Amino acid sequence: MRIPESKIAEIAAAADIVQVISNYVELKKAGKDYRGVCPFHGDKDPSLYVSPQKSIFHCFGCAVGGSVFNFIMRIENLSFVEAAKLLAQRYSVVLQLEPGSSAREDAKERLYKVLALAHSYFIQNLRAAPAAQEYLLNRGLGREWIDFLGLGFAPDSWDGFQNHLSDSSLAMRDALNAGLVRQKPSGGYYDYFRGRIMIPIRGLNGELVAFGGRAFGQGDPKYLNSPESPIFKKKNILFGLDTARDAIKKSGFIILVEGYFDQISLRIRGIQNVVAPLGTSLTTEHAKLLKRFSERVVTIFDGDEAGLRAVKRSLPIFLSEGIEPECVILTEDKDPDAAINRIGTEGFNKLIESSDSVIDFFLNQLESQYDFKGISGRNQALEECIPILRQIADSSERDYLIERFSSRIRINEERIRRAITTSTVNQFTQGGSSKKKSASTFFDFPAEERNVVRGMLIRDGFVDTVVGTGVLREIENPTLSKLAQAIIRFSEERGSFDSRPFALALDDPEMAALVASWLQPKPEEDDLRPEVDGDITIDQSLERLRLKKLLRRKSEIQEKMRKCEAGEEEYNNLARELLGIGRRLQR
Ligand code: UTP
Ligand code: MN
Repeated sequence: MRIPESKIAEIAAAADIVQVISNYVELKKAGKDYRGVCPFHGDKDPSLYVSPQKSIFHCFGCAVGGSVFNFIMRIENLSFVEAAKLLAQRYSVVLQLEPGSSAREDAKERLYKVLALAHSYFIQNLRAAPAAQEYLLNRGLGREWIDFLGLGFAPDSWDGFQNHLSDSSLAMRDALNAGLVRQKPSGGYYDYFRGRIMIPIRGLNGELVAFGGRAFGQGDPKYLNSPESPIFKKKNILFGLDTARDAIKKSGFIILVEGYFDQISLRIRGIQNVVAPLGTSLTTEHAKLLKRFSERVVTIFDGDEAGLRAVKRSLPIFLSEGIEPECVILTEDKDPDAAINRIGTEGFNKLIESSDSVIDFFLNQLESQYDFKGISGRNQALEECIPILRQIADSSERDYLIERFSSRIRINEERIRRAITTSTVNQFTQGGSSKKKSASTFFDFPAEERNVVRGMLIRDGFVDTVVGTGVLREIENPTLSKLAQAIIRFSEERGSFDSRPFALALDDPEMAALVASWLQPKPEEDDLRPEVDGDITIDQSLERLRLKKLLRRKSEIQEKMRKCEAGEEEYNNLARELLGIGRRLQR
């Protein structure tokens, strides 16, 4: 689906950027702008600026920025269209969708619908399954909790859901796409979830995106999840986050457990700030998501070998996102569910209070394994630290950890640094995903190129000037070149250029952040001084690009002239052009 530009403007007019951002961040007036603490990076200072006049926000700490849509995209984890829809809904703008313009949006809608249909089918079936109800009751889940969590039951039938589906307007294809049925090799279909307690899995805003099914009676595997779909990416979802949000805000921290029933079990006993990944180990996306809600994360691990491995795996992921996680290690119970059943809510809260930094836990573990008194023990300990350090791309986070390791193991920092870079070439074992890519700032670009592109944004009529001068090819930085092209396209479509609607329509977060940073004056400046930057003005910058173009053309011509005979017609033409260039270069 595409939202027409006029609608985008209408939504932006209704959804005042200051008002929208105030729902997430406390803003204070500062001159023409508003300031607040940026929700997108670990900051204590008010580096986030919101400009009602330009309808943009920009953070001078982490360089994130853009329109009201970009803000919602980032904070709610939505696509541009989803963000626009959300704001349209909140501010009562009626969206007449351009018909059939995107099959993808349509397909998503159908997925939501078929999941909702399956949900009602599972709920209905739980009501008719006393044994399953009794099982849940034994795990502490009475009627009210069953309703609150939306638990259901998939009967042990190969076609129960298919029959239910055939009474609806949805097609087998939809059920197939949502992973609710599977195709038989012999043709025909069968229900995917059979004989299972069904747990709805919801996105950040409570939307149903998948199911987790726990075997009831025999059944293998014990837990079966919906397969991934366009609306369900496991690496992005934390079970229970939609309903834990308020409790997280109130308590100021997040408890991270491993299983569905651990999460549920803590909740029904009054501990609400709990979430769980879905049978996968922690991902970078999870860490980012957690950080949006709280920087303090307490993980609960098993005291066994597997628990220790999980600690090692998750540590670099957390640290790469700037979270120093704490942990509680269970020694007497199999999992948090068993622990809280044994020691009760109060006991469990005490356990949480006794949590320790994961880094310290890890170092203690190393010390009990190797003898830090001898050099060989210290070296062995270092061996274990290196792979973790290598996975942290962010240098300040890595430095911090090196310091911690160095002082505790008593190996000097320089040696640790050397060990990271030597032997196997800089292996970031967990791949590029953990590499932090911070948004580009103004000064990351060559001065003349950025001044010209910035000029296109802020100076009336400058887009035409730039196009007329023919210097677009001279903009070599890929990001700037992409931005310049986008500006020109926008300007051609509308017959003129205006940065406000342009900024509103940008859905690429990197581009949006860049544009916002250029439209927002630096905090120490009273106002924008667009004409001079990096010691040269916009006009001087354009002139330099023009020169660059002429010089390039000059060497092209000289190259060509070398290849043809003097006196040939082509040679003469080239010579004439060269002469002209020479004259222009002298001016
Ligand atoms: P556990 O086997 O520890 O299950 O798996 P549990 O949460 O204690 O389950 P109960 O208490 O017996 O009901 C922990 C988590 O690992 C994932 C699930 O997310 C589960 O909650 N898992 C486990 C699977 O995805 N598939 C499986 O077959 C088993
Ligand atoms: Mn369990």
